[in-house]
Amino acid sequence: MQLHLSTWPEVEAYLARSKAILIPIGSTEQHGPNGLLGTDALCPEIISRRVGDEAGILIGPTFNVGQAQHHMGFAGTITLRPSTMIAAMLDWTQSLTRHGFERIYWLNGHGGNIATITAAFSEIYHGVTFARAGDNRPPLRCSLRNWWEVPGLMDLCRQLFPVGEGSHATPSEVSVTWFGYPEAVKSVTMTPRIAPNGPILDADDYRRRFPDGRIGSDPSQASIEAGEKIVAAAVKGVIAEFKQFAAS
Ligand code: NI
Repeated sequence: MQLHLSTWPEVEAYLARSKAILIPIGSTEQHGPNGLLGTDALCPEIISRRVGDEAGILIGPTFNVGQAQHHMGFAGTITLRPSTMIAAMLDWTQSLTRHGFERIYWLNGHGGNIATITAAFSEIYHGVTFARAGDNRPPLRCSLRNWWEVPGLMDLCRQLFPVGEGSHATPSEVSVTWFGYPEAVKSVTMTPRIAPNGPILDADDYRRRFPDGRIGSDPSQASIEAGEKIVAAAVKGVIAEFKQFAAS
């Protein structure tokens, strides 16, 4: 069940049986020579849609632009500054709590978002804490799960891609997007086959160190079949975790 494809009476009816919602959150940033700019938003979105279909869980619209400052040396990347992202996450959350939602599960697709999402949670809780004199236990809870850290998933990705998984523009994430959008599959020769590793500083330095955008990866190994396996495992793990969180 997706919020933007529902009517308000349908959302009101959902709220009568559950106060929990899942929001995919990601980034719009370069993902190497064969990866889509939307990869980090599409991965949690593709997984979430299946979670919604299979378990009747309400899926919010994808928060699809995040912290991508260090990718700004590559065309098409869009970034928010941290303060904007925190403010927007607060507004999304307060809109949802206004309707009665009390559990918000953010399924994240981008490592660069983690610090800001965590800061946004503090901002969200700050408002709740200080709004209720004498009681600083928020009735509202937020949860952050990075999709690649769903229990068991890293082992699966390592089995599928023992060499060249790397840390940015990975064959695993590209596979997930190709499973969701088979028309995006493209054959690109990677030079070198496995990208270099190194520190991430700001945009210009990133492009100098990692000229085609990849870090440590060989995404030419990506496949729809691998994406299907990863999504199936992620969906199972997210449903189990979401149900526990919703009942907490
Ligand atoms: Ni990514």
